Amino acid sequence: MLLLTGATGRIGSALLRRLTTARVPVRCLVRDPKRLGAERVRVQIALGDLADPPSFRNALRGVTTVVHLGASIRDQPAGSIEELNGIATWRLVQAAERAGVEHFVFTSALGASAHNRTRFLRAKALAEQAVVESSLRHTIVAPSIVYAPGDHLTTVLGRLAWLPVVPLSGRGHAQFQPIWADDVADCLMAALDRPVDPDAPNLRVELAGPDVHTYEGIVRAVLAAAGRPRRLLPVPLGLTSRGLRVAEALMGTTAPVTWDEAELLEVSMTSRHGTADAERLGVTPKRLAAVLGTA
Ligand SMILES: NC(=O)c1ccc[n+]([C@@H]2O[C@H](COP(=O)([O-])OP(=O)(O)OC[C@H]3O[C@@H](n4cnc5c(N)ncnc54)[C@H](OP(=O)(O)O)[C@@H]3O)[C@@H](O)[C@H]2O)c1
Repeated sequence: MLLLTGATGRIGSALLRRLTTARVPVRCLVRDPKRLGAERVRVQIALGDLADPPSFRNALRGVTTVVHLGASIRDQPAGSIEELNGIATWRLVQAAERAGVEHFVFTSALGASAHNRTRFLRAKALAEQAVVESSLRHTIVAPSIVYAPGDHLTTVLGRLAWLPVVPLSGRGHAQFQPIWADDVADCLMAALDRPVDPDAPNLRVELAGPDVHTYEGIVRAVLAAAGRPRRLLPVPLGLTSRGLRVAEALMGTTAPVTWDEAELLEVSMTSRHGTADAERLGVTPKRLAAVLGTA
């Protein structure tokens, strides 16, 4: 039995389709099973929450492999970014050790470091450390920015494209190698199928798309794909931060964008390996323009 967290997300939904097609027995730890769509009848469901560690114990019963994709780039009422990403992963690792799990697969992120300016990438660094220091055989996947047509980022930008001028948080100069969620899912499937090498049981791969884009370049690509190329208006970071913090204070969890999310787009996420790690797993990541249909 494989336990999947984050099954309703960008990467998780792409991975779940592949797992159920391959007839892998899957249990999904979810807050709301309805969000699994048609897949919910093909899997076991464990109701749970990253902020609720007792829910991990039931979810892990009889599980040999954990794929932990669940994460949050904004604070939630039940837990902060640090709790949902750092502490929850540490607790899930401990529960997995107790439950006799054999393989723990974790998605970190390029740029995860205890010294990163963003809360999310600091929490990911601590989570990654918990996985590495555990007794579990592990695979760590660290992607650059991951996208899928219709995801949160492309939807927000698509909405902004109705304006005559689209605001750009900061100068948009941070660099990314965007990788399609389906390509990440293919890499995860390959990592799950990899025979265990007794001399090197653990694996860490950096997943990047074939092209380096600035954030500004990504925004322009998404607007072009929506058929609404627009002039961009850089908004100084101080102003973005104050505006988004006020919006969050007024709107709470319904705020369309938070400062923590916007700040992530200020931090470059590139790998000097380029697409090499993905290719070693047998996956050739597609270009952003090809996936968005503008190539
Ligand atoms: N997207 C990127 O650019 C990117 C880049 C680098 C690394 N990663 C990492 O890759 C993994 C998957 O990313 P993604 O883009 O697919 O994520 P995503 O689309 O944001 O989905 C997040 C998933 O986590 C679940 N989740 C959030 N809060 C939860 C909670 N309190 N309890 C239980 N589940 C919760 C969500 O479930 P609900 O349906 O209940 O909300 C959803 O399934 C994450 O670990 C992420 O940090 C992503």
